[in-house]
Amino acid sequence: MTFDTHICRRLHEEHAAVFELCRRMEQAFSRQALPPAADEVTWHSLFTKIEQAMEHEVWKHFNFEERALWPLLDASGDGELAQLLDEEHEVIREVAEELTSGITLGRSGEFDPAAWRKLKTAALEFSERLVSHAQKEDLSLLPVLDKLLTPEQDNELFGAYAMA
Ligand SMILES: [Fe+2]
Ligand SMILES: [Fe+2]
Repeated sequence: MTFDTHICRRLHEEHAAVFELCRRMEQAFSRQALPPAADEVTWHSLFTKIEQAMEHEVWKHFNFEERALWPLLDASGDGELAQLLDEEHEVIREVAEELTSGITLGRSGEFDPAAWRKLKTAALEFSERLVSHAQKEDLSLLPVLDKLLTPEQDNELFGAYAMA
């Protein structure tokens, strides 16, 4: 899958980073039936990775799509696609809240088996929904956008995203 515009290439790279993170999350969480020990370094490093990805590849990325891209889709007659993707963002945000509050609890070393199961469920649901969303955007949003943008619009969007 290749794109001509800078912004589509950038968003596509971030989707790829999300696929990699979600693969790691799925592997780690599905193997761990009981809460990990509070000083378990591997888990702390995965938690940090998830938090960093949330900040960049999820929140910054989502906000940019909503503010800069949905209006362009609306104006070009693809408003339904924008609406569908926006609804998915909302659901992912809700699951992400459960995931981040579970991680905060885990960092404080207060996991019991029930809290761990809750975090595990949130992590697996988050991963499944985010992967499916990013795949959908790779196949629908980015090809539409790649055709739609003029080189000037592309430069402007790419610059704005880099500054965000
Ligand atoms: Fe999105
Ligand atoms: Fe995206």
